[in-house]
Amino acid sequence: MIKLIIDTDPGIDDAMAIFYAAAAPEISLLGLTTVFGNVTTQIATRNALRLLEAADLQVPVAHGAEAPLSLPPFSPSAQVHGDEGFGDIPAQQPIGAPVAEEAADFLIRMAREHRGELVLCPIGPLTNIALAIQRDPEFVKNLKRIVIMGGSLEEGGNITPHAEANIYHDPHAADVVFASGADLVMVGLDVTHQILCTAADFRSIAARSPALGGMLQKMSEFYLKFYETVGKFDGCSLHDPAAVIACSHPTLFEVKKLPVRVSCTGETSGATVEADKGSRAATSVCLNVDAQAVKTLFLERLALLP
Ligand code: BDR
Ligand code: CA
Repeated sequence: MIKLIIDTDPGIDDAMAIFYAAAAPEISLLGLTTVFGNVTTQIATRNALRLLEAADLQVPVAHGAEAPLSLPPFSPSAQVHGDEGFGDIPAQQPIGAPVAEEAADFLIRMAREHRGELVLCPIGPLTNIALAIQRDPEFVKNLKRIVIMGGSLEEGGNITPHAEANIYHDPHAADVVFASGADLVMVGLDVTHQILCTAADFRSIAARSPALGGMLQKMSEFYLKFYETVGKFDGCSLHDPAAVIACSHPTLFEVKKLPVRVSCTGETSGATVEADKGSRAATSVCLNVDAQAVKTLFLERLALLP
């Protein structure tokens, strides 16, 4: 059983990833930590609580950083995920509240309590993870692995020609994580742009899982419309679910091990590039994927939900 914490900015594909983790028999979800990105951190925390309540999962949510490490705070754009993060679904107040501990401290404590076993799956900007690394020199050693949704080696960017959105929103934090020496897997656009779902796929999930699948189907309408405007994809990318699936099914991904650094200035800011040999520990960068197998897992498992 994989002990997993997802650090998230929900977000439509974040919701897909969290519901996938709820459905996957080999994943034990220990909590969610929240960050800005697709929405503000306030909205991310509210949405994370709502998703857990919808899935009837009683695990803690820890509210995270509200601004990048070094860049000024920014206002999220509503273009991809809508004003409230879930496309056209209106905001709903959760019943519960986040834990008192802030995200980075929660991560540090959980890594200590589950020493050597905890897998961290950040699917938003890496600010909370960088703060945990900076606050506790033992943090990385206590973790089993970090599987990041973010970056791009050969595919180019999705928010600028060079940068993927999660890395772009806090490049300094991302560089701290890539330099940390953790067992790191990068699930970036090189693979997530290969894993696509269509409106018909979401209708089939909703037909078998009316409550949670139905919620994802409604959200996906907004997300698919955005992808239509991009033009080059036949469907929408399963970015964040791909990272969760890489935690439990690593053999579906082909990796190349190389040191990675993040450009933090100029027009390439947020780009993930190969660092000088020996300058830092290698990251397992996913460069190819059995996209059909990942998609089948996603569709089959979400359909098991109520
Ligand atoms: C990443 O950016 C966000 O829009 C998505 O939720 C995903 O985590 C893809 O670039
Ligand atoms: Ca995300």
